[in-house]
Amino acid sequence: MAASSLLAFFTFSLIFLYQPSTSNANLHKTKLLGSQLLLSQNEKQDTPITKYFQVTKPIKLPKTKPCSTLVLQHDFGFTFGLPPAFANYTPPRDCPSQNISKIVLEWKATSKGRQFDRIFGVWLGGVEILRSCTAEPRATGIVWSVEKDITRYSSLLKNPQTLAVYLGNLVDSTYTGIYHVNITFHFYPAEQEQPHHMFKPNSANLESGYDSPADIVLPISRNLPLTDGLWFLVQSPTDVQLKEFTIPQNGYRAVLEVYVSFHQKDEFWYGNPPNDYIVANNLTVPGNGPFREILISLDGVVVGAVYPFTVIYTGGINPLLWRPITGIGSFDLPSYDIEVTPFLGKILDGKEHKFGFGVTNALDVWYIDANLHIWLDSKSVETKGNLIKYESPTPVVSLVSNFSGLDGTFLTKASRSIYSSGWVESSHGKVVTHSTQEFSFTNFMQMGKNGSLQILNQTINSNYSVDSKLPSHIYKARLFQNFPLYLYSENVGQGNGSYTLITNLSLGYNEDRILGQSRFGFVSSSLKNVQNGQVFIVVKGNSVTSALVSTQQVYNFDGTGGCYFRNVSSSNYIILYDKSGNHCSGSN
Ligand SMILES: *[C@@H]1O[C@H](CO)[C@@H](O)[C@H](O)[C@H]1NC(C)=O
Ligand SMILES: *[C@@H]1O[C@H](CO)[C@@H](O)[C@H](O)[C@H]1NC(C)=O
Ligand SMILES: *[C@@H]1O[C@H](CO)[C@@H](O)[C@H](O)[C@H]1NC(C)=O
Ligand SMILES: *[C@@H]1O[C@H](CO)[C@@H](O)[C@H](O)[C@H]1NC(C)=O
Ligand SMILES: *[C@@H]1O[C@H](CO)[C@@H](O)[C@H](O)[C@H]1NC(C)=O
Ligand SMILES: *[C@@H]1O[C@H](CO)[C@@H](O)[C@H](O)[C@H]1NC(C)=O
Ligand SMILES: *[C@@H]1O[C@H](CO)[C@@H](O)[C@H](O)[C@H]1NC(C)=O
Ligand SMILES: *[C@@H]1O[C@H](CO)[C@@H](O)[C@H](O)[C@H]1NC(C)=O
Ligand SMILES: *[C@@H]1O[C@H](CO)[C@@H](O)[C@H](O)[C@H]1NC(C)=O
Ligand SMILES: *[C@@H]1O[C@H](CO)[C@@H](O)[C@H](O)[C@H]1NC(C)=O
Repeated sequence: MAASSLLAFFTFSLIFLYQPSTSNANLHKTKLLGSQLLLSQNEKQDTPITKYFQVTKPIKLPKTKPCSTLVLQHDFGFTFGLPPAFANYTPPRDCPSQNISKIVLEWKATSKGRQFDRIFGVWLGGVEILRSCTAEPRATGIVWSVEKDITRYSSLLKNPQTLAVYLGNLVDSTYTGIYHVNITFHFYPAEQEQPHHMFKPNSANLESGYDSPADIVLPISRNLPLTDGLWFLVQSPTDVQLKEFTIPQNGYRAVLEVYVSFHQKDEFWYGNPPNDYIVANNLTVPGNGPFREILISLDGVVVGAVYPFTVIYTGGINPLLWRPITGIGSFDLPSYDIEVTPFLGKILDGKEHKFGFGVTNALDVWYIDANLHIWLDSKSVETKGNLIKYESPTPVVSLVSNFSGLDGTFLTKASRSIYSSGWVESSHGKVVTHSTQEFSFTNFMQMGKNGSLQILNQTINSNYSVDSKLPSHIYKARLFQNFPLYLYSENVGQGNGSYTLITNLSLGYNEDRILGQSRFGFVSSSLKNVQNGQVFIVVKGNSVTSALVSTQQVYNFDGTGGCYFRNVSSSNYIILYDKSGNHCSGSN
């Protein structure tokens, strides 16, 4: 099929808050567009409300009637720099809480007018349960909802808690969009009585990498900030944010779940050029090169890392790409699990310990916090353990740089691995856990046409493995993630105040999982999720005189517990085609 037939043609006017400077590399212009371009379309009055969505597989629900409770109803107007919105959560009364098999958080929001993409977080008892980004409204109104399986936070949901939502929004005569938000929790009773196993494999829980929810979840977040979210702010390469915590003395397993998002100078970190290029060309664009990794330390020792997925927010690269299909992960940012069971013996002493968060090469600002999921031994008041082996070799980072003036190429590579093993003795016996994390990062960046062209080709591979040897059997978890990103972005000046922007984007989130125990069997799944987008717009003065924009997405999930497939495309709010189904492709 010819590419042009996928594209729809339309015209509109737009407002530039800042004129792109002509003396900087194209990337800067792209970034400026990414965060500063606002559209005011001449919309027909009878345009129906636009529904935005993120393509993902539906949550597998029991065929039972849920108990639903509206936890928060709030209008986010001028909320920037204010405390989060709070609500009191109490478990629904007439719900058989011990028999709940699935809990779903539903975020539903409407907005109208003009507004930027805003990042927000939802915390329950200080534990982050959703990190997300708002959709950008239009004059005729938009609506979107996010559904997230929050079953892994069950232990929190059994008791009254304070819910906190921080969504820093600015409202004035230009940015008129107020976000009207409802958060509802849905509790689904189990279909029938099911035998309970310590590590019951359940394909429905595969996405969180869990077998059964932890007994407690501790917040590793900021204490009641008065002007922001509960996340920590990491603002420079040397910035390490610390949180003190203590755990009960009868834990036998622990997983740290890390939430992360990147903003301002690092919103497009993967496109930041190396500093020597910036200095040589007297540029003022954000730098430190394109490599970032999050390092998590426990009492000063690096126990885990995250090579984050390149989430593109709803205003990112070019906001026209994300209407109404939003970027992968933008409505439900992925969190990352780090098995810390091998280190458990070090923190079972009832004393205070510290987790630390840092970001290699960070520029202002990264929002990071975490949740510590702990499984407790119901048959003892004290467990004990010790680290057996720990290896964290010096990471390998390289940069091959070749440029002259504004043109050149940069190849950045990095790899890291962290290995740990340790034992924990509980009523389950003496269990030895091995945990391995391996990461590789490759970013090829090319600047051409005197800095008006930038091409990025990046791949991140993350490999997590956990093996626990119980006295009678083994528990095993494998996760392999592959995040490809390709971005072609060109700004063709016409020399008369008019220019053309050409953007081609391909963004992928792929992962393979294996999870289970030798005595119950293993479940596996494979996800291939790819978005492609093209932009061709002509800008004259302050307005876009023509635009061709299109986004295509293919989502393919194959799993032991079922499959899901969707193939969808949109252009300027219009769905060009949309096919979905439950058939398995057999690629798993
Ligand atoms: C390239 O860009 C620089 C900075 O904007 C400018 O000084 C120079 O004249 C340009 N070179 C060419 C060949 O256009
Ligand atoms: C909940 O499950 C238990 C056993 O698992 C059963 O005895 C009880 O009747 C169930 N309660 C409800 C309300 O379904
Ligand atoms: C929130 O719930 C209230 C009460 O049920 C309803 O009137 C309102 O339309 C809802 N808002 C959204 C954004 O769903
Ligand atoms: C950068 O600025 C310095 C001092 O202002 C100047 O000497 C130099 O020529 C400039 N270099 C470029 C590439 O513009
Ligand atoms: C650097 O780039 C120039 C211009 O493209 C090319 O001629 C040269 O071979 C490159 N050098 C290296 C070491 O790649
Ligand atoms: C990106 O790089 C990968 C690996 O080097 C290569 O296979 C792929 O073809 C490149 N993609 C594009 C669009 O250049
Ligand atoms: C992931 O790690 C396992 C264990 O170290 C190794 O066998 C496997 O080859 C790795 N896979 C990839 C794709 O790196
Ligand atoms: C600017 O240049 C473009 C391309 O040459 C041309 O199509 C356009 O008409 C010109 N605009 C003005 C205002 O001269
Ligand atoms: C951009 O994507 C379109 C459609 O896939 C393709 O026809 C075109 O060649 C691409 N352009 C560049 C510069 O990659
Ligand atoms: C998605 O649908 C489009 C339009 O029908 C088709 O051209 C394309 O081949 C489909 N892709 C996949 C992976 O099925």
